[in-house]
Amino acid sequence: MAPVSHSIRRALLARLMGPLVLIMIVGGACAYGLAQYFSQAVLDQWLYDSAISLANRVKWEKGRASVDLPEGAREILEWDVVDRIFYEVLSERGERLIGNAALPPPPARPNTDTPVYYQGRVNDALVRILAVGVQGPGSSSVLVKVAETRLKRNALASQVLWISVALSVMLAGVSAAVIWYGIGSGMASMGKAVRDVRSVHAAAPLSPIPINDSLPREMFPLVQEINDLIENLSAAHRLNQRFVADAAHQLRTPLASLRVQLELALREHDAVRHQTAINDAVHALTRMGHTLHQLLTLAKADRNDSGFVPQAPVDIDLIAREEVERRIDDALAAGVDLGYAGAGEPVWIRGQAELLREAVSNLLDNALRYGAAGRHVTVGVSAESPEIYVEDNGPGIPESEREKVRERFYRIPGTVGDGCGLGLSIVEEIVRRHAASLVLEHRGAGTGLRARFIFGAGVGKVEPAPA
Ligand SMILES: Nc1ncnc2c1ncn2[C@@H]1O[C@H](COP(=O)(O)OP(=O)(O)OP(=O)(O)O)[C@@H](O)[C@H]1O
Ligand SMILES: [Mg+2]
Repeated sequence: MAPVSHSIRRALLARLMGPLVLIMIVGGACAYGLAQYFSQAVLDQWLYDSAISLANRVKWEKGRASVDLPEGAREILEWDVVDRIFYEVLSERGERLIGNAALPPPPARPNTDTPVYYQGRVNDALVRILAVGVQGPGSSSVLVKVAETRLKRNALASQVLWISVALSVMLAGVSAAVIWYGIGSGMASMGKAVRDVRSVHAAAPLSPIPINDSLPREMFPLVQEINDLIENLSAAHRLNQRFVADAAHQLRTPLASLRVQLELALREHDAVRHQTAINDAVHALTRMGHTLHQLLTLAKADRNDSGFVPQAPVDIDLIAREEVERRIDDALAAGVDLGYAGAGEPVWIRGQAELLREAVSNLLDNALRYGAAGRHVTVGVSAESPEIYVEDNGPGIPESEREKVRERFYRIPGTVGDGCGLGLSIVEEIVRRHAASLVLEHRGAGTGLRARFIFGAGVGKVEPAPA
């Protein structure tokens, strides 16, 4: 199933729109509240003006109040295109001095300075009422109440509400569009970076992507990772090329001689010479098999995909003993006294057993092959460094050759036998991957070679021994 593609642009828009819509709703609600507050305050002020003009009509005569409201003034007071206006003036004892409706009493006793606004009902209609006290001579006073229905107020409130909602929706839409195009143009720089990378790779494949100012900063970690990947890929590619080149070079000669010997065998009628040619062909095949094995081992040790080898606990004492056992028959056949020197106790290090086995096998192979007549070969393990070593009593390697023999395909001139010069370079590679060191030295004071595979402090012993 194809992976579902994930758009950064959509994801960012979705993430931003949630909080943005929330902000719009809160903002819209605040705007609505404010508009509502000020519009109602204006309407309340008109109500207050009406109440004050009515209060000004109150006359006092011998401590008794009366209201002088001519017809014209009453019409002005009651006139309103939308709402109905009610009023009522009550004496101190609660007698109605004037009024066109009975208005509910205020929740608190008002005076001229502090009018009281409240809600109430007149003839089942909800009204906004204002009550104000008018002080007469002495302690006498009257209560003036003016009320109006809420049609204007309700209409204003719903208008303000709709305008707020419409504004919020419009702002949300505009913001979404701005975010969408903003992110889009921001992402366009990525498109340019991709085009740059494409042109670089068209010119030079497997070259790293240049990290420069044209690259968005957010892409740096990704590009860095890709560059590491490219580096690993090109290293692997180089190794493969080298392997193919080495293999082709090394196998060409034995292949050619194999062909010559087989052709000879085909032509040969003499039974003995025919047998010799076949034997030579088998020998050439064995050499080729060995070379191929060495090349493959080198390629395996050379693989630098993960730097160091997996750090698993390995018992090098066990490896030494097993390698001695494996080659004991070969040693007997060659008249070599092959022995093991070690405490017989596990010596744990961290590394890769398969490669270490290959290293010991190569060192042992050299000791068995290049030692002198009446030879002794010892594979030893020391827990001190820790190290694993192979020593023989052969001619050894002269000082001047000790670096060269580590090179690929190098054999000391005059060396007999069928080696291809890869054994020590394989060991060297395995040493490198274990952060260890390979010391080639004379055995004690005499001749012979002691090849020491010494594990560094970083590799170290592993305690305690795993099950
Ligand atoms: N123990 C030894 N005593 C004397 N000479 C040695 C010893 N080990 C290695 N050499 C010399 O070092 C050379 C390089 O050894 P190396 O193991 O790399 O290759 P090789 O043995 O010739 O071939 P290969 O191991 O790939 O079959 C050998 O050709 C040999 O001349
Ligand atoms: Mg060798």
